[in-house]
Amino acid sequence: MRIRVSPVPRLAGRVLVPGDKSISHRAALFGALARGRTEITGFLEGEDCLATLGAVRALGVEVTRKGSGHYLVDGRGPEGLTEPENVIDCGNSGTGARLLVGVLAGQPFWSVITGDASLRSRPMDRVAAPLRRMGATVVGRREGSLLPLAVRGARPLKAITYESPVASAQVKTALLLAGLWADGPVTVHEPAQSRDHTERMLAGFGARLAVTGEGVTLTPGGALHGQTVAVPGDISSAAFFLVAGALMADPEVAVAHVGTNPTRTGVLEVLDAMGASIRRQAPVGPGSAVEPAADLVVRRSRLRGAEISGPEIPRLIDEVPILAVAAALAEGPTEVRDAAELRVKESDRIRAIATELGRMGARITERPDGLRIEGGTRLRGAAVASGGDHRMAMSLVIAGLLADGETVVEDTGCIATSFPGFLTAVNDLAGSPAARAEA
Ligand code: S3P
Repeated sequence: MRIRVSPVPRLAGRVLVPGDKSISHRAALFGALARGRTEITGFLEGEDCLATLGAVRALGVEVTRKGSGHYLVDGRGPEGLTEPENVIDCGNSGTGARLLVGVLAGQPFWSVITGDASLRSRPMDRVAAPLRRMGATVVGRREGSLLPLAVRGARPLKAITYESPVASAQVKTALLLAGLWADGPVTVHEPAQSRDHTERMLAGFGARLAVTGEGVTLTPGGALHGQTVAVPGDISSAAFFLVAGALMADPEVAVAHVGTNPTRTGVLEVLDAMGASIRRQAPVGPGSAVEPAADLVVRRSRLRGAEISGPEIPRLIDEVPILAVAAALAEGPTEVRDAAELRVKESDRIRAIATELGRMGARITERPDGLRIEGGTRLRGAAVASGGDHRMAMSLVIAGLLADGETVVEDTGCIATSFPGFLTAVNDLAGSPAARAEA
């Protein structure tokens, strides 16, 4: 599939973005491990999270769809999972795969897990190595560092204190989940704070979790009970419209009911530093003490370049492709540093941003751990490609709305992994079919 994009003069209106991807994965998995029923509303029905529901079903858990984004997960308790009959396919989802390996490490049976071509090239040793230290058997391609992986869990696993070399919520969560079957506490320290949905949600399910400074400890033995989880909108999906609105809103663009967990709001702070005007309003509808949410209202502003580095990076890691679009159009240079992790996301995003936005006239220099974006560019319509990366695809569509002339974005089927209604939302705000899908 490709998307043909015509430039538009302005965007206006109110959109809803789908449920948060990180929270949806966790609601499904934690619900499966809890005893009793977990009721989820606002679940992201994108391919990534549907793959996680498929995994949970393959492990013997009953999942019922009640309506759009509304699911019941009848958890079987931490001892209740059963050996899957077939290979579990996590599709494109790094979160699904890595969290699942953490769960499988504690199961007294074999399972095999794989994913699509992108996921099969992404590093799994970051979870496999510490899980082996805890006593699990994890084998696979490249000395067990690439999917497909076969996992034979151990019970109990050995307690561990782990210094993670990367600030990764996926690594942190995989080890904490494995800790449910450990013979003592599991502690994870990370070089910078990554998103803390697991700490908030798993504690809500009843796990014994303690957070100290940059470390978190799970002590096994807490009973997990089914919960109701109201998933807020995904700020990573909202970011496309926050950037588009900051450049084109007239009079304003509102994104309703967006999760504003402080470990995810780096994009708001960077846009603020760039001069954007984004107002937070109390959301209409169900809120949650566990995961805060707000309506975000953005007006057009003159944007200037910014410096994005250090502990801010994990708080906006998924938003760098769309922030690069803002930076290309802002006045003055933007530097992104300390972001080598971008090279092992759904694509090498440092390379992809420099190459694809470069085709549209942006002046971008690739660095090993980031980018320099000169700014002050008039983007021109061009033929560009997502490389199968959903966030690249959506960033390029937004860039196309802002460019002179028509843009064609190739390979856009991947948008369905995280934001199936993206084109409809774009065209609603544009007030015309500015972005059209072609087979
Ligand atoms: C996620 C964590 C981040 C993020 C990913 C979702 C999660 O990855 O990029 O999209 O839900 O835990 P890392 O934790 O590996 O940085």
